[in-house]
Amino acid sequence: MGLIKIQKVMSNEIAKRVFLSRLPEPPYEYILNDLANSIFIGTTRRFQVPFAWTFSTLTNPHISVVGITGSGKSFLVKTFLLRASYVWGTSALIVDWAGEYKAWVKQSGGIVVSLGKGDSLNMMDLGGMKPIDRSKQIMTSLDIISDISDFPEQRRLTAEAIEQAYINAGFALTGIAPAGKDAPTLKDVSRLLEEKLQEGTYQYPAELENAIYRLRQFSREGQDFFAKKSTIDMGKLISSGLVDIDLSALPDEKFRALAALFILQTLKEKMRAEGWSAGKGLRTIVVLDEAWKVASDERSDAITIVREGRKYQFGLIVASQNPTDINEAIFSNVGTNIILRIKFQRFVDYLQGSLNFSQFIRGEINKLGVGEAAVDMSFQTSVQFPSVFIINRIVGEVPLDSYTITLADIANDAELRDQTIPKEFLFEKLLLNSKLVESNVSTDLIESIIKELDKRNRIVDLKEFIKILAEKNISNEAIISLLRNMGIPDSIIGRSFSYTKT
Ligand SMILES: Nc1ncnc2c1ncn2[C@@H]1O[C@H](COP(=O)(O)OP(=O)(O)OP(=O)(O)O)[C@@H](O)[C@H]1O
Ligand SMILES: [Mg+2]
Repeated sequence: MGLIKIQKVMSNEIAKRVFLSRLPEPPYEYILNDLANSIFIGTTRRFQVPFAWTFSTLTNPHISVVGITGSGKSFLVKTFLLRASYVWGTSALIVDWAGEYKAWVKQSGGIVVSLGKGDSLNMMDLGGMKPIDRSKQIMTSLDIISDISDFPEQRRLTAEAIEQAYINAGFALTGIAPAGKDAPTLKDVSRLLEEKLQEGTYQYPAELENAIYRLRQFSREGQDFFAKKSTIDMGKLISSGLVDIDLSALPDEKFRALAALFILQTLKEKMRAEGWSAGKGLRTIVVLDEAWKVASDERSDAITIVREGRKYQFGLIVASQNPTDINEAIFSNVGTNIILRIKFQRFVDYLQGSLNFSQFIRGEINKLGVGEAAVDMSFQTSVQFPSVFIINRIVGEVPLDSYTITLADIANDAELRDQTIPKEFLFEKLLLNSKLVESNVSTDLIESIIKELDKRNRIVDLKEFIKILAEKNISNEAIISLLRNMGIPDSIIGRSFSYTKT
């Protein structure tokens, strides 16, 4: 009796080990979490296990998302934010580089802050920090967005003037500022440097002039979004539900990067100051989408946050089309990497190098369709299964819509009547979208095409569809290859073109 039992146990053990060594997916207990306390993403490709994300077993709550344009990064982010807010009441702050979340946030009842279009942020606001520390942060931001670090004298002059501006405004450099006291602005800093130049006693006036020139870019009337009193309270915004900080109206990338860095710095301080609060789930998620300068520079607080964020229940999502734009330190430290459709093999090389997945997974990644992904998670305890697995299309909040293209009179054409040609073609929005992506139609154009179709209640005649595409300046060759790719027979394509011409 006893012997049989032992044998049974042993063979179970062995079976388990063999199983483990070959398992293409993490065992379900690692991916199927309590749905009341996790975020459902989709099902796994191999065993169709529901994958629900939580960071309780992961090294940290931070997530990187990579994939080509149209692969579904923003869709995933939106789905994730909505569910996190249902499940944990998580607030979200989106640093919206291109303004692509604005409409969605408005629609979802969130707050939209448009920097450069009404709203401003004073770079010198202290947010509970000591002036000396804030001064250092401002200098780091300038290091990241400009080449000032190559000009030590200009850098020194600027740093000195920033500190002096705080002193002149009545702050103690190393003391915590009293609440309610207005911080100086970059205009005050510029002014100090100008006065110094006018005194005429400074040894290197050219350096001084250049330092003034650099600051003037940000304090000039009309471009002084960061050099006047803040219209928004960053500290409050991180716990205000869904918030979109739209940076698209700022004049250029430098301004956007400066804003993003400032936001991250403020968040980091807030995170450190508030400390750990016991409780389930995430309090706040910050999204950086296409903020490459901010995600790639090792001096950026995106990296500090990724390294320290876990104990603060504060999660960062960094999304990018190009994985090499995300600093290696972020990649190797985030608890979850999500890889959507990727085009370039050198990007797959980079991902394989840092995440170390098998050739099999590499092959799967090369075949991903829109919304499908490879997921890599870093567990706190060492595990004996490959950490990268494939999931089916991410399941969104919105029901899938379908679009119909009818052949109407074309199919009744005398020459075609006898052929067995379907009278209409049905496309799920996602499929239609991916066909357009495959034909290299840009995301903006796709959106406007879909809008045209929506206007027509999602049903158009093929000729009309061709007309819409042509009006969007898509070439005839591109239209033909798209229609072929959509499974429409050549005979029909030829025919509908001749109709549209006349
Ligand atoms: N999992 C999905 N289910 C249904 N639709 C999806 C899914 N993923 C993406 N889509 C649709 O595909 C289109 C492109 O997705 P999305 O805007 O998320 O791409 P993106 O990777 O953010 O592109 P970009 O880099 O250009 O911003 C959208 O219309 C979106 O609704
Ligand atoms: Mg996007």
